[in-house]
Amino acid sequence: MLKGKRILLVIAGGIAAFKSQELVRLLRKRDAQVRCVLTGAGAKFVTPMALQVLTEDKVYSDLFSLTDESEMGHIQLSRDADLVVVAPATANILARMAAGLADDLATTVLLATDKPVLAAPAMNVRMWTHAATVANVETLRRRGIHFVGPNDGVMACNEYGPGRMSEPEEIVAAIESLLTTEKPLAGKSALVTSGPTREAIDPVRYISNHSSGKQGHAIAAALAQLGAEVTLVSGPVSLPDPAGVTVVRIDSADQMLAACLAAGKVDVAVCAAAVADWKMARPATAKIKKKAGAAPPALELTPNPDILATLSRRGPQRPTLVVGFAAETENLVANAIEKRSRKGCDWIVANDVSPSTGTFGGERNTVHLITAEGVQAWPTLSKDRVALQLAGAIALHLARPRPAEAAE
Ligand code: CTP
Repeated sequence: MLKGKRILLVIAGGIAAFKSQELVRLLRKRDAQVRCVLTGAGAKFVTPMALQVLTEDKVYSDLFSLTDESEMGHIQLSRDADLVVVAPATANILARMAAGLADDLATTVLLATDKPVLAAPAMNVRMWTHAATVANVETLRRRGIHFVGPNDGVMACNEYGPGRMSEPEEIVAAIESLLTTEKPLAGKSALVTSGPTREAIDPVRYISNHSSGKQGHAIAAALAQLGAEVTLVSGPVSLPDPAGVTVVRIDSADQMLAACLAAGKVDVAVCAAAVADWKMARPATAKIKKKAGAAPPALELTPNPDILATLSRRGPQRPTLVVGFAAETENLVANAIEKRSRKGCDWIVANDVSPSTGTFGGERNTVHLITAEGVQAWPTLSKDRVALQLAGAIALHLARPRPAEAAE
């Protein structure tokens, strides 16, 4: 997707700059051309020499270098790029961008460019949540600057929270998303379920699970990126709505099923939600009160509808392709093959959710794709890349002539 694309990578001064070298390597592996602009502070974390070797190009840093200006002015630098990426985007460079400063080569290029700009913020959690940074990011978003991340995580300063730069693979996925013009799913409709469901015990308590919705939301975003008209039916999650997707928010499995059926006939359905298997047989209409000395209440549960199985056996309304997920902790492939036939879906994306894998709530996923043709083992990828790869496989599958069409 990135063959021949020209990326101008601005590296500002943060400890995450060490990840920018890996970003360059991944972009080069995809045959993109990468040219680096290094700020003065960035040069404290990565050397121009390392970047020069990785990019096989000169590294630019000095606005007032006469040689650079005669060979390659700052206007030309931005003109020659398809996309400008700022990674890491520190609080300082975001503030300078928001203020429209042009006090070094990086900010001058950013002010002069008419190309799309993608920023990957990286900073301490308190800097990221500071009112000044929040306002700067809002200003930049309004001006059309794209953002990837930051993620939650442990930072170099040993604090935990949002501020950690996205992993290089996620930044590559965001770059691909911005530079992809191919829309192989144009004219196709997709339904995606994502997140957990919440089953009410009484008006204040519920049964749920730890699903973050990251994988389902990434799939909805990837399908939309490839041109599909996407309806995302999501349980309660703390994720932003993916761009260009119709989002239907629900709480319970019953509501999720109703929303999926209401979406009508679609070309592809991807059930990535972690639907609660059981709900209360009779949820209490008033808050259940503790009674001194009384035993805890026994919760009588009843099974929830199986949304994946319902969609897979929908007769004429059945989607052309139904994809389910299998979250397993043992016998991954065998269990997933059995689940595929039990649920009647076409494909199963099987993932190992053992605690040691960090899949649940994490950023990465190791999956096997189980189809009628066999089992594909995918390498460990970011959830965004798994989503893009799955969306690509769906596009290929839907482009194949159907048996009836093939016979015509
Ligand atoms: N699923 C669904 N509706 C349900 C339960 C599950 O649509 N009520 C879907 C999930 O979205 C996922 C697939 O079914 O695509 C597999 O769900 P999972 O919970 O892993 O499988 P189960 O059928 O619950 O089997 P088990 O709990 O035995 O692993």
